[in-house]
Amino acid sequence: MILPIVAYGDPVLKKEAEEIDQNYPDLQKLIDDMFETMYHAKGVGLAAPQIGKSIRLFIVDGSPFADEEEDEPDPKAAGIENFKKVFINLIIEEESGDKWAFQEGCLSIPGIRENVHRQERVLVTYYDENWNFHEETFEGYAARIIQHEYDHIEGVLFTDHLSPLKKKLLLKRLGNISLGAISVDYKMSFPGNKKQRMI
Ligand code: NI
Repeated sequence: MILPIVAYGDPVLKKEAEEIDQNYPDLQKLIDDMFETMYHAKGVGLAAPQIGKSIRLFIVDGSPFADEEEDEPDPKAAGIENFKKVFINLIIEEESGDKWAFQEGCLSIPGIRENVHRQERVLVTYYDENWNFHEETFEGYAARIIQHEYDHIEGVLFTDHLSPLKKKLLLKRLGNISLGAISVDYKMSFPGNKKQRMI
C-alpha cells in the first residue's frame, strides 16, 4: 500500500523518534508499505517519520546510485547496487573521514536540492527486519544515505544544515511545500491542509 509522504512543516518531521521492540505491531507490513511508497516516489531512502510514524525505523535502496555507464567507477558508489536494507534503532557510533559536499534532496521537500557537507564514513549499530543485531561500517553514498535518514529519526532535515542565508532564500519555497502549493507526482500529506493529516 502506498502511503502519503508527510511534507515539510509537519511537526512529526521535527520530533525525535522513539525506539521500537519486537512487539511492534505489523512491522513487516509497515516495512513492505514503506518500500512500495519509496519506490513509487523514486527515492533512495525513507524514514518512518516521513509517513507519519515517529519511530526509529528507516529503509534504503541505493541502487539508483550505481553508475554502470561510467568508464571510471565512482569510488563513492562502491557496493551501492546491493545497498537495500532495513535499519531499526540505528545508532551512528562514529563518523570519520573528510567532509564532502553532495546535493541532497528529500521526499518530504520535493523540488529542492542543496549541498550538504558530511563525513565520508560511519560506524553504525542497528537491528535488521529479522531483529539480528549488526555492527557495520559504510562509506560514500551508502554512508550519505544513512546520515540523511538518521537525521530524520532525530527530527533533523537536510535544510537544517544550510547556512542562515541559504535558508532565508528558500523560505518562500519551503512555505509553499507546507501549503501543498507545489506539483509533485506522488502522494503527500501537507500540514497546511489539516484534512489530509494522517497522525
Ligand atoms: Ni529525507
